[in-house]
Amino acid sequence: MDFRVLGWISVALAVIASSPYWLKALNKWTFKTKDKRFLNLIKRLRPIHKAAGILLAAIALVHGWMALGGRIGLHTGFLAYLGFLLTIILGISFYYAKDRRAFKGHKVMALIGFLLIMLHLIRPWALGEWFGVW
Ligand code: HEM
Repeated sequence: MDFRVLGWISVALAVIASSPYWLKALNKWTFKTKDKRFLNLIKRLRPIHKAAGILLAAIALVHGWMALGGRIGLHTGFLAYLGFLLTIILGISFYYAKDRRAFKGHKVMALIGFLLIMLHLIRPWALGEWFGVW
């Protein structure tokens, strides 16, 4: 399989994993529905949220490995990966320790992860171009 396909699957997984959050926010800002079907969808997305995060950690790693020809180097993709890895670690620690700071960190790191994905897509080789790290 082409590494680009795995890259786009990783993007889709990040969008799915974050969907309970942005669907709720979208509802609050725009259509403001209390429809049971919508609330049920959010409920069903909760376990999918966790599975999508774990799949993202595995698939993005294979994607990066293949994209760099069988190595993992410092790259904008690697930064995005680290962002999401930290997001997952904070999510797991919130799940077990119920620490509100971990939950806040989980959300902030998810946002940073998305910003890093954008950098990775817009300027994949930025670390080389800006800092000479190829
Ligand atoms: C959050 C994790 C990641 C996501 C969502 C992601 C997503 C993507 C996508 C969608 C592409 C294809 C863009 C196109 O169609 O041309 C791509 C390209 C690429 N990715 Fe990733 N990636 C991730 C992690 C990584 C990692 C960990 C590495 C390596 C350490 C990496 C290295 C690359 C490289 C070298 C390319 C090709 C850039 C080019 O020359 O066009 N990615 N990535």
